[in-house]
Amino acid sequence: MTSPELPPEAIRELGRRVADFVTGYLTALGDQPVAAHTTAADLRALLEEPLPRQPQGIEGAFDDFLQKVAAPSVRVGHPRFLAWMRTSPLAGAVFAEALAAALNQSVAVWQGAPAATEVERLVLRWLLGLTGYAPDAEGILTSGGSMANFIGLLLARQAAFPDVREHGVRSLPPVAFYLSPETHYSSVKAIEMMGFGKDAVRCVPTDRSRRMHPLSLRRAIRSDRREGIVPVAAVATLGTTATGACDPVAEIAEICAEEGLWLHVDGAYGGLSAAIPTAANCARGLARADSFTVDPHKILFVPFEAGAVFTRHRGLLPATFATRAAYLPNAEDEGFHFRDYGPQLSRNFRALKIYLTLKIYGMDAIIHAWERQHRLAAQFGAQVEAAADFQLLAPVSLGIVTFRYAPPDLGEAALDALNKALVPVLQRHGKAFLSLTHLGETEALRACFISYRTTEADLPLLLEAVREAGQEALAA
Ligand SMILES: Cc1ncc(COP(=O)(O)O)c(C=O)c1O
Repeated sequence: MTSPELPPEAIRELGRRVADFVTGYLTALGDQPVAAHTTAADLRALLEEPLPRQPQGIEGAFDDFLQKVAAPSVRVGHPRFLAWMRTSPLAGAVFAEALAAALNQSVAVWQGAPAATEVERLVLRWLLGLTGYAPDAEGILTSGGSMANFIGLLLARQAAFPDVREHGVRSLPPVAFYLSPETHYSSVKAIEMMGFGKDAVRCVPTDRSRRMHPLSLRRAIRSDRREGIVPVAAVATLGTTATGACDPVAEIAEICAEEGLWLHVDGAYGGLSAAIPTAANCARGLARADSFTVDPHKILFVPFEAGAVFTRHRGLLPATFATRAAYLPNAEDEGFHFRDYGPQLSRNFRALKIYLTLKIYGMDAIIHAWERQHRLAAQFGAQVEAAADFQLLAPVSLGIVTFRYAPPDLGEAALDALNKALVPVLQRHGKAFLSLTHLGETEALRACFISYRTTEADLPLLLEAVREAGQEALAA
């Protein structure tokens, strides 16, 4: 049996093709439609083939990648892709993924990944320095914000019930967690995954700017205590998913400290605000949070997956996750073992793309890009307000604009139906790509200025693309 590997010259040829593709793709994104018009049935028909038993060669495999995978993929780095929270990766970060794959380090135990472990620790310190959170906090890179929030809330449970790993949740009294209607669903999911169920979730009302209302939080905590329910944690958000609002973390931290419960701050999107002059006041009070999430894959222009979670309570991550194994180095063995700091054993080398991106481009360039994106969002918000057939639905915050197409003489129900209907039309036209969100009962369009490729010239094109899609949806 011979090795399945290709000869060196073929590997080099493959690398050249990949490098040419990445360069061409990333530098010409704006010349292409944002998304190709396709359906699930079309894609399944295009992709269907028997398992390849014999090699098809670089040529054939690469052609299939181009036609069957790349061509129908949504062009996430396009200047007018503003849906959800998907950034444009920088080329250096894209190639760093290939380097990490070549080294194939599992960043679990120091002995198996010494340099990768230390790079991750360094990158975590760099991130901490930017966020304004406790400089000696402990942390770990995660797949993204959902896993980071899950870890943050597991830490809260561990802090409240140090014996939970022995006896499980069945041994615990009824508990409560405090969120707002604007909190990302991943925190609710985390509470469910911990075995507490949705019954444990308290939805604290927000103010007119959709920020958690601190006095209502205090009232909810006290009311639960009177009922014999144990308040475990509150979740505050820096940069809510729908509108980019920042909860008043300083006030919430004060209440959590007085009432004796954990404060987790979900800064998946807005967690680097302290480093961005146009957003710096959002992060006031962050240093008092007990745990904190920030997502490099949302804000550092690196590809999926890269999230991070930190806690200023040193020792709590290993108290929550460390597990002995006969077949691996344990805590007393030399080196730092990330397997004791989170749920995963095999972990990819996520830190490399962050490390190389910061070294190749420098953090200042990333901060300047964010300042520009925030300015563009404010400008777009002003253009929405100035247009007779559009409405701005929430204050523009951290680069997020929520608005709707609102031609005259339509009632609320018709406007909701229209905005919902226009999004697939917009995506089919391929000129811009936005997502939908709910603001209370209202259907809203949401533009997240998360791409450094978006320019001022894109703003009128974006508005016109929405208008055109809206008119087509209305006519239909
Ligand atoms: C505020 C917030 N928290 C958490 C998440 C979940 O992050 P991820 O998609 O990386 O799991 C998101 C996703 O958009 C988010 O907006």
